[in-house]
Amino acid sequence: MKLFMDTGNLRDIEAFAPLGIIDGVTTNPSLMAKEAGEPREILKEICRTVKGPVSAEVIATDVEAMIREGRDLATIDPHIVVKLPFGKAGVQACHALTAEGIPVNMTLIFSPTQALLAAKVGAAYVSPFIGRLDDIATDGMDLIEQVVEIFDNYEFGTEVLVASVRHPIHVVQAARLGADVCTCPTTVIEALFKHPLTDLGLERFLKDYEKAQAARAHL
Ligand code: E4P
Repeated sequence: MKLFMDTGNLRDIEAFAPLGIIDGVTTNPSLMAKEAGEPREILKEICRTVKGPVSAEVIATDVEAMIREGRDLATIDPHIVVKLPFGKAGVQACHALTAEGIPVNMTLIFSPTQALLAAKVGAAYVSPFIGRLDDIATDGMDLIEQVVEIFDNYEFGTEVLVASVRHPIHVVQAARLGADVCTCPTTVIEALFKHPLTDLGLERFLKDYEKAQAARAHL
């Protein structure tokens, strides 16, 4: 499963990129609004840092403006994936941009039918929002299971990108269900590394080694 970072924060991306675990980045208008600086420049730097797919979302809401903005975003860097909000306008714009060879990430997916329609118009990714479904007492992972099954049935090339991830259990569930990508906020990526027994184990190894060294020195 590919791991994307769900952030517009360049420093966070620069901190994790050298580890070799980050395959791409997703941003959205809310995430970009948190960052100081010109969004275009930030996106350019993110692309340069990750050298993988970077989703940049349009602000436009009508078809023609979405297509125009999508084309413009795609000129920032060859790694840019244009993120379009799901809806009739988004589906039509996806159809047009995909025909031009511009990859699209269809966002704000909350049902299997929305995912199916996005796949039909050639979206490179669909982004079902798991955490926001869980927030309203609906099982977000159940949606992932259904979308993975539907895409497998018809061998759609569209990748299932698990979004709105809140904790490491979401990552484990996404991987067990065979999702293609999981995009995580920095806090969740950080949490994927942690286990108290790993810390304790290392502490014990080092202490035992030091003890043995000290004993040898006294021989
Ligand atoms: C990713 O593409 C989405 O923009 C993001 O995961 C939304 O997450 P949130 O529900 O935590 O805002």
